[in-house]
Amino acid sequence: MYLPICAVLYRTGLEFPTGSLTVRLPDMGKLNGRRVLVGITGGIAAYKSVELTRRLREHGAEVRVVLTPAAKEFITPLTLQATSGNPVHESLLDSDAEAGMGHIELARWPDQVIIAPASADFIARLAAGLADTLLSTICLATEAPVAIAPAMNRAMWDKAVTRRNVATLESWGAHILGPDSGEQACGETGPGRMLEPGEIASILARSEPTGVLQDLQVLVTAGPTWEALDPVRALTNHSSGKMGYAVASAAVSAGATVSLVSGPTALEPPAMVSTRQVVSAEEMLSAVEADIDSADILISVAAVADYRPAEIQPGKIKKDASDLTLELVRNPDILAAVAARPSPPFTVGFAAETERPAEQAREKLIRKKVDLMVANLVGGEDDPFGSDQNSLVLVDNDGETALGRDTKVRLAKTLIEEVAARYHAKNPAANP
Ligand code: C5P
Repeated sequence: MYLPICAVLYRTGLEFPTGSLTVRLPDMGKLNGRRVLVGITGGIAAYKSVELTRRLREHGAEVRVVLTPAAKEFITPLTLQATSGNPVHESLLDSDAEAGMGHIELARWPDQVIIAPASADFIARLAAGLADTLLSTICLATEAPVAIAPAMNRAMWDKAVTRRNVATLESWGAHILGPDSGEQACGETGPGRMLEPGEIASILARSEPTGVLQDLQVLVTAGPTWEALDPVRALTNHSSGKMGYAVASAAVSAGATVSLVSGPTALEPPAMVSTRQVVSAEEMLSAVEADIDSADILISVAAVADYRPAEIQPGKIKKDASDLTLELVRNPDILAAVAARPSPPFTVGFAAETERPAEQAREKLIRKKVDLMVANLVGGEDDPFGSDQNSLVLVDNDGETALGRDTKVRLAKTLIEEVAARYHAKNPAANP
C-alpha cells in the first residue's frame, strides 16, 4: 500500500510532514489533459526538447511537436515522434501533412504553445509577424498562449535588436521563460542558455490559468484620451496603453470575461478581449457606462485627460495671433462616477504621479471612494510611459503593498492576483 499512497501524493503535488521535515513534492499532473504544442527551432539546445516532451507528458499533457527546417539539422522527427507519442509536423506546404492535420487545425489544437529552444532568428520572425514556416504560421494563427524559451549565444541575446524583439513579443502577451546564464555550447559564458526541460515543464504547469477571476466580468480602461481642439489638433498625454493592455490579458488568463475600452494607442487589441476603441474622455465614459452594469470589477488604467477644450473649432485654428489662450473645461471623472453608483463593481484606479505616488494615491482612494489604487512614479529616470517596465505600489484601506520594478506583463499578472484576493474577500459568496 505504501507505494500507491506515495504515488497519489506525488501526482497531486501535496506537501506532507515527515517528522520535522516538510517534503515539497513537484507540481505533477497540473497539465492533465491539456494540449501542449512544442515548437522546436534550430539550435544546439534542440536536443533538450526530447526531454521536454517527456516531462510535459509526465505532467499529464498531450503533446504534439512542430519542427522548423533548421531544427531538423539538430534532431530527428522520429525521436520526437517516439517521445511525444504523436506524429511530428514539419512542413507548411506538404499536401499529405495538410490532409492529416492542416496548419490551421494545428493552430486551433493546443491549449498552450511552447517554443523551446527559440532561436534569435525565430524570435525576430515572430516579432515581424512572418508566417514563412509551419511553426511561425501556427504562432500567428493560434489563439492559445505562447511561451518562448530563448536559447542563443550571449552576445546575440544582449543585442538591442533581440531585446526589442523579445519585448515586442512580451507586449503581445508571450510568456518569456529564461534564458538561463552559464556555460554555453559555443564555449562562452553568460545569459542565453535554454532553461532546463524540467523547469520549463514546471513553469507551464504552474502558469496554467489560475481561475482566480473565473466567471467574473472585468472591464478595463487603457491608453490616453485625445481631446480635440480643431479637426487637426488635440490635447493628449504620453500613455502608451501597454499597462492597461497587459492587465486585460492577465485578467483573461485568470479566467475572466474581459472588455477593454481603449483610447488611441499603437497596440494590437489583446487576444480574447472584447475591445472598444474610443478617442475622448466623454466617449470613454459612454463606453464604460454601456458595459458597467454587467461588470464585477472595473480596473481604470486609462490616463484620462482631466480637461477638454470648451469648444472644438470647426476649422483649423490659424496662427495669426502671437498668443493663443485656450479655454478648458473639466472632463467627467469616469472612475469616481462608477464608484459613486448605488451598487458599484469592485473599483481599481491607477495614480501616475511625479512625486509621493503612494501618498497621493491614498488621497485619491479616499476622495474617489475606490477599493484599490495602484500608484506609480512618472517623469523620472525610469519613466514608465512607453516603456515595457514599471514599478507599482498598491494602496488600499489595509495599507501598502510594493510590487517592485518588473515588466508590465509580469506586474499585471501579480496585480490581477492581488485584485482577485481583495475582490473575493469583499464578496465571499463569489469565491470560485
Ligand atoms: O485623478 P487622477 O487622474 O490622478 O486619477 C487617476 C485614476 O482615475 C485613474 O484610474 C484614471 O483612469 C481615473 N480617471 C478617470 N477619469 C478621469 C480622470 C481619471 O477615470 N477624468
